[in-house]
Amino acid sequence: MKEHYLSIEAAATALAQGKLVGIPTETVYGLAANAFDEQAVNAVFVAKNRPHFDPLIVHLKSPEQVEQFCTAIPSIVWTLIEAFWPGPLTLLLPKKPCISDLITAGLPRVAVRMPRHSVAHTLLQQLDFPLVAPSANPFGYISPTTPQHVLDQLGDCIAGVIDGGPCEIGLESTILGIEASHAVIYREGGVSRETLAACLGDCPLQLSSAESKTVIHAPGQLTSHYAPTKPVYFDALARCLRHFNAQSLGTICFREPVPSLPLTYQFVLSPTGDLGTAAQQLFRGLRELDRLPVQAIYAEKFPEVGLGRAINDRLRRASHRL
Ligand code: TXA
Ligand code: MG
Repeated sequence: MKEHYLSIEAAATALAQGKLVGIPTETVYGLAANAFDEQAVNAVFVAKNRPHFDPLIVHLKSPEQVEQFCTAIPSIVWTLIEAFWPGPLTLLLPKKPCISDLITAGLPRVAVRMPRHSVAHTLLQQLDFPLVAPSANPFGYISPTTPQHVLDQLGDCIAGVIDGGPCEIGLESTILGIEASHAVIYREGGVSRETLAACLGDCPLQLSSAESKTVIHAPGQLTSHYAPTKPVYFDALARCLRHFNAQSLGTICFREPVPSLPLTYQFVLSPTGDLGTAAQQLFRGLRELDRLPVQAIYAEKFPEVGLGRAINDRLRRASHRL
């Protein structure tokens, strides 16, 4: 396996040549390609084994670029951009023709975001094209939060990865659709529902109810996702123990180990009870447990507030097939 770290300059050159590069963002690592190069965009789908019906997010270097790629931008969008960009908020807006149907899977809207990781920011400044960047993991698996995670799974498909350290947030961006009279959360993520609601003021905020195994009506909607290879039991310890014995379990816990289980493979995400820290550690914990000699993973339910909602969403999707 190729273990290749790139400087920002070398990454910029590789991207301009149509190659794929692993890039750090504040949320998770992305598998980046030139959004204006159809062949490179197609290579992203192939590398991830991602179906073409699942569209990609376009990463921008400035808020002004929104007008270059999107139309019919309501004023609330500028309020949101002012409050959250650069940062973990992705906005779904009607696309201009310069954004290819390959990127949006034929949908009329494009997802755009401006990352705040300094490496992603500096890289984008050096390019004269925006980047598509899905999470840098094989389709359906857990998103990467370190450069090593990217190399472990996609090392053979990329020119290399830029090392930007472990991701600060550890969960993907929140995806928000702006409708005529309200906003819709399509994926819970780095900006919490409460924080968005405070910024939206009078504009109502809804949760998308469209969920599908194969059809994307909207972003982040695939029900089975973010899954390790081991079965995950979310908030279902008794059911888990009917199928597996306690010695063979790994656990994802919030503040403290589950008292009734052996300590060996218990992964406590934040002993101080901080949801931000828990979010940052979640995908690393799931990956570790997937590698360790455990047969199944039991995951506790987190408090349904702030980032706890996004954590629960990922764990629910990871456990969906059971
Ligand atoms: O934090 C993030 O958003 C990371 C980093 C790398 O930026 N990216 C990321 O991309 O999570 P990805 O492709 O793994 O997840 C993006 C989600 C997908 O579930 C996709 O279905 C949805 O966004 N999506 C993208 N464009 C869309 C569109 N035009 N309409 C509906 N859904 C869209
Ligand atoms: Mg993803």
